[in-house]
Amino acid sequence: METWTISKLLNWVSQYLTEKGIDSPRLSAELLLSDVLKLKRIELYTQYNKTVEKQQLDKLRELVRRAGQHEPIAYLVGKTEFYSMEINVTPDCLIPRPETELLVQRAVEFLRTRDGIQRVCDLCTGSGCIAAAIAKNYPNARTIATDICDAALAVAASNVLKYQLQDKITLLSGDLFDPIIPQLDVGKFDLIVCNPPYVSGSEYEKLEKNIKDYEPRLALFAGEDGMDIYRRIIEEVDSFLKTDAALILEIGYAQGRAIKELLEQTGIFIEIKIEKDFNNNDRIVTAKKS
Ligand SMILES: C[S@@+](CC[C@H](N)C(=O)[O-])C[C@H]1O[C@@H](n2cnc3c(N)ncnc32)[C@H](O)[C@@H]1O
Repeated sequence: METWTISKLLNWVSQYLTEKGIDSPRLSAELLLSDVLKLKRIELYTQYNKTVEKQQLDKLRELVRRAGQHEPIAYLVGKTEFYSMEINVTPDCLIPRPETELLVQRAVEFLRTRDGIQRVCDLCTGSGCIAAAIAKNYPNARTIATDICDAALAVAASNVLKYQLQDKITLLSGDLFDPIIPQLDVGKFDLIVCNPPYVSGSEYEKLEKNIKDYEPRLALFAGEDGMDIYRRIIEEVDSFLKTDAALILEIGYAQGRAIKELLEQTGIFIEIKIEKDFNNNDRIVTAKKS
């Protein structure tokens, strides 16, 4: 019977995933193998010549087969990395994206300009990655995070528990601001952040298979022009923001101008800034209230 070492498996899996057109095949192979063998990625290399048992090989083979059909690696292993944290994910929530780390960075920078406990609202929290990363990096943040999908909120709850953030993050189920009653839950917020669904009808049809077939439509699609959720947030946001507060949104690459106009029309923001991501696409809007 053929002997399979970690080294041989890494090469075989990455070659198979390359042939199937999967992104980052070597990294994907490492993540799958680490998951099956319960080893850190670095340990795959320190135990390069270790032989892998049949039972583990069978498990790996099944995961590799699914990965070859473009099922996201993060769903297969149940976690992903975000802002140097390991975030649990399931197919009920969006897989946190590197672009969203810029939103967290701007949020933490804004909070660090202020003193004392800061009230934060994270709308459309999904896995809770934004709320968790803010809480880890700015301990004075007290965040209310909402999502309309209870199954996604269950994932957020697992991440809150994983990082022992129960005192810092409150999860509420419902449509945007609906579950938040300002006078009852908190005063107003110092900061509202949101990475909402923002994919338009035509973009949705063209999404890559690993996204369209596996990630929740509710987390992606936001009406024909992809702006439905922004319009609703911006219409309501004033009554939830303190006078010197900020709103930070993730946006689609072609939405910067339209969102700036919507924000300007409210007449409540003194400074509106649109920033590009590492691919040079518009990605983050920061709006500061007077
Ligand atoms: C793009 S995902 C973002 C998830 C997470 N914040 C992140 O950055 O990875 C959008 C999330 O919005 C939620 N959602 C969609 N419509 C909503 C609504 N009307 N009210 C609250 N949440 C909503 C979805 O369930 C999904 O979890």
